Amino acid sequence: MKIIVIGSGGREHAIAKTLLQSSQVQHVICIPGNGGTARLKRCENLPLNIDQVDQFEAIAEYAKTHAIDLIIIGPEAPLALGITDVLQRHNLTVFGPSQAGAQIEASKAWAKALMSEASIPTAACAVFTDEPAARAYVQSGKIPIVIKADGLASGKGVTVAMTLAEAEEALSEAFSGKFGAAGQTVVIEEYLTGQEASILALTDGETIRPLISAQDHKRIGEGDTGPNTGGMGAYAPAPLVTPELSDRINQEILIPTIKTLKKRGITYRGVLYAGLMITPEGDPKVIEFNCRFGDPEIQAILPLLETPLETLLLATAKGELAQQEITWKPGACACVVAASEGYPGDFAKGFPITGIELAEAQGAIVFEAGTSLKDNHPVTSGGRVLGVTAVGATHDLAFEKVYQAIASIHFQGIYTRRDIGHRVRQKPKE
Ligand code: AMP
Ligand code: GLY
Repeated sequence: MKIIVIGSGGREHAIAKTLLQSSQVQHVICIPGNGGTARLKRCENLPLNIDQVDQFEAIAEYAKTHAIDLIIIGPEAPLALGITDVLQRHNLTVFGPSQAGAQIEASKAWAKALMSEASIPTAACAVFTDEPAARAYVQSGKIPIVIKADGLASGKGVTVAMTLAEAEEALSEAFSGKFGAAGQTVVIEEYLTGQEASILALTDGETIRPLISAQDHKRIGEGDTGPNTGGMGAYAPAPLVTPELSDRINQEILIPTIKTLKKRGITYRGVLYAGLMITPEGDPKVIEFNCRFGDPEIQAILPLLETPLETLLLATAKGELAQQEITWKPGACACVVAASEGYPGDFAKGFPITGIELAEAQGAIVFEAGTSLKDNHPVTSGGRVLGVTAVGATHDLAFEKVYQAIASIHFQGIYTRRDIGHRVRQKPKE
């Protein structure tokens, strides 16, 4: 098989690396890819801009000329711009929902309306396009409260406001255009407490197959403090998600979502990612849906996957998921992100990275996110630079391997949280 992977992050490096473990996969083309995918054997990068609709036709032409069997869309932005629709018009096989399906992530108001229609447990909410009305609502309601820009805002559109002043500031920012059109509609939500878990499920619009559960650490600082990031580390499985809870998530959330999408005429094929809050009462509630694999969660999930990834994604894309079971290796997987100093704020780029081979020789897998090549050597090029990952018989053993491997890796200003997995590790700190 020849496969295209769209995207340039740790998620896409993890997908490409996993695909290439299979003898069924001859060649992978990453568009645009990163420094990690550029160095994989049987893999090449193709530098096209995936955030521009006018490039989608070029991708389709390339795929037809090169007899590509499957195109996997990594990030949400091209999905929201309709890349799947364009490629499918050329009769290409695509893993990733249509533009209509991607609204589940691209419009929080749309997702909330769908959840309401399907009676899916989630935070109570109100939607506003008018600032004075939003302000009046916040002033008359309970604090804490959560303010969300409706559209895609690179993970920065959510404010969990612990005071009225913070809530009002978040409204001013959104309505003053900080998030562009994405913030002109604002969703105001009830504040939920509990523990978060990520459920990434494959679906072909009929059958839904959840992957093993995962937990992410979104905040930059240890003890889950400071600003939100794309995710500073993850592990799988999440012991919090017991088989009973998993069954409830399936029945109460995933199945009704797919059914309701279908009712709206959307055959959703790709990943349905449910970001969940497990309340202190043990009930799962949806915080948000995403239309793609979570990153870094997928970096902690793929090393445990036993079924060949290309088989699963191809079956999903073709509507044949009912015939596919998913099997997993035993044990646990841990992923810790090595980030650039300053992230999620401003950071410098271009620093040489050393020690990746040494870390891998110690049994870790190093997924590259914000890297590029300079004179054939990896240098930093993004906020989240690497996802250092390892499998172990237990979460403790997996994290031990990861933190040992990280000690071998260097680049100027490297930052890692030392407490990733604190909920599942016996020894919370090194
Ligand atoms: P989102 O981008 O919607 O995943 O939100 C980012 C983060 O904000 C989530 O991972 C949660 O930690 C937090 N969050 C979002 N919505 C709520 C809510 N209704 N109650 C409490 N925390 C929330
Ligand atoms: N790790 C969170 C996300 O991918 O949205």
